[in-house]
Amino acid sequence: MCGITAYIGPRNAYPIVINGLKRLEYRGYDSAGIMLFDGQGLQLSKTKGKVSDLEEITNNDEKRKNGNIGIGHTRWATHGVPNDTNSHPHVSNSGELVIVHNGIIENYDTIKKELIKRGYTFKSDTDTEVLVNLIQEVKKNEGCKLGKAVQLALNSVIGAYAIAVFDKAKPDELIVARLGSPIAIGIGENNSEFFIASDASPFVEYTKNAVYLEDEELAIIKLGREVRVRRIHNDELIKASVQKLQLSLEEIEKGGYDHFMLKEIHEQPKAITDTFRGRLLVEQNFIKLLGIDSYREKFLNANRVIIVACGTSWHAGLVGEYLLEDMARIPVEVEYASEFRYRNPVITENDVIIAISQSGETADTLAAIKLAKERGAFVYGICNVVGSSIARETHTGTYTHAGPEIGVASTKAFTTQITVLTLMALKLGREKGTIPEKEFVKYLNAMDRIPQQVEKLLEIDEHVKYIASVYKDATNCLYLGRGFNFPVALEGALKLKEISYIHAEGYPAAEMKHGPIALIDENMPTFVIATKHGHYEKVVSNIQEIKSRSGKIIAIVTEGDITVKEIADHCIEIPETEEALTPLLTTIPLQLLSYHIAVMLGKNVDQPRNLAKSVTVE
Ligand code: M6R
Repeated sequence: MCGITAYIGPRNAYPIVINGLKRLEYRGYDSAGIMLFDGQGLQLSKTKGKVSDLEEITNNDEKRKNGNIGIGHTRWATHGVPNDTNSHPHVSNSGELVIVHNGIIENYDTIKKELIKRGYTFKSDTDTEVLVNLIQEVKKNEGCKLGKAVQLALNSVIGAYAIAVFDKAKPDELIVARLGSPIAIGIGENNSEFFIASDASPFVEYTKNAVYLEDEELAIIKLGREVRVRRIHNDELIKASVQKLQLSLEEIEKGGYDHFMLKEIHEQPKAITDTFRGRLLVEQNFIKLLGIDSYREKFLNANRVIIVACGTSWHAGLVGEYLLEDMARIPVEVEYASEFRYRNPVITENDVIIAISQSGETADTLAAIKLAKERGAFVYGICNVVGSSIARETHTGTYTHAGPEIGVASTKAFTTQITVLTLMALKLGREKGTIPEKEFVKYLNAMDRIPQQVEKLLEIDEHVKYIASVYKDATNCLYLGRGFNFPVALEGALKLKEISYIHAEGYPAAEMKHGPIALIDENMPTFVIATKHGHYEKVVSNIQEIKSRSGKIIAIVTEGDITVKEIADHCIEIPETEEALTPLLTTIPLQLLSYHIAVMLGKNVDQPRNLAKSVTVE
């Protein structure tokens, strides 16, 4: 939650920081702010609203755009409502120190009371303004440099943070630190300039060299000098490891699409192919997953698998449960990371924990991993963001390689997570002998066809758009699916809720008669996944039950289906594939449907209200 970015070097910092904030807006977008230093004084501009609102304030005022040092922030409110005053950056009482912060200082109230006793005053309701004044107080009392003051102050706070701090008295220096929230430092040639950001996207066109801070690390960034990293609690000096960025500018731009979400939906054939690359080896009849190969015994001897995740990733985890139990015959439990971390779960050394996260930064998932490790479990990560906290915290894992996902509503992250889980289930099933050779070969070939099938499926966009126009004014919707497609029903409902704000519920189709059927009337659209597999006849009966209560049915069916077509109000066809692989196809029309409804309702598709792309707070 919240994006922070900063620049120090010979260029004008304003365009770098503003463009950087736009790229980080997926992390939060209820207020934005920038501080520039032109060698004379601080220029602080901040406002409730988006970065574009901030630009409106600064655009006609050259003074506000001057300076070679800038720090900026785009906010997702935690302490204090979104308003101009609570927006970052925050300045200390002395007017010397400036801070941007992503995270939460849990003991801010106690510190604030103490600072008030010492004469400090506060303009905002934020924990961040408390932190910058605490740094000022420490600096004054200890008579130390800024880096040391930040370190000492952080040692007395409880919570999570990624911060960037500037001191007017030291205009060639920035201090950054992290605990629980990410921070990347882009390094210019010969240390002549530095870029700081919550991820590398704000500086990808300026440098490919970056240092990612680890938790508990603080960096002193001084022009003309190598970045110095220290451990916050014990002052240990750490060698900063400079990594080469793989990210390209095209990947983080809209590429001609109206929204990132639409672009990301259309990127799925490529994203799935990238997930397969080097892993799905059809010719060799083999699935190569280094994470499993290196810890084969752990998986083969596992008593059970516990999947921990949140939101869409949790839905992918549910698909994983069906896949792993069906193919590899390993008992699986799927847990909300937020519940798992606090409910004193039974975890043993023979459990394999699979943590799924697009961002790799979700606070609850990270905490669940830490708990599982403390209790001796082996933890496997499925992440999209390379080098993210979860990727680093897990023992091993598999990257989805979906490329940057910027739309807040997850799309390609979901299908690529399912792709990895399918590869894992097939591989383990093969190794355990629970999938016969012939079946395995059939699956490999069917998997291989998925990217082209998704490509073909995307051609139905106009048809889905038409259906969206018919149901866009619904106030409630039901999503039903069975077996592998029950989690897809949950995901379809979540997609609609989060970007169109229409209430939607996902249910296992057979559960409908235990309650939700009471909701059915002529105003209630039900989206049913009714592909021609295992439970087809039963789902057809559910459809009949809805129709006989005047409900509207939009069915996702297998190509060539006649039965459902005769009953449903609208049908969307998906290509034929193995039942276990259908989630990779049935998901696509539901994503398109939510997208079009949200666009037709004039909603902000990529930045829905109250949400943020990565939830790095509890
Ligand atoms: O980055 P993660 O996969 O850990 O994020 C988990 C959820 O916050 C995320 O899936 C959220 O539910 C999305 N907005 C869904 O579209």
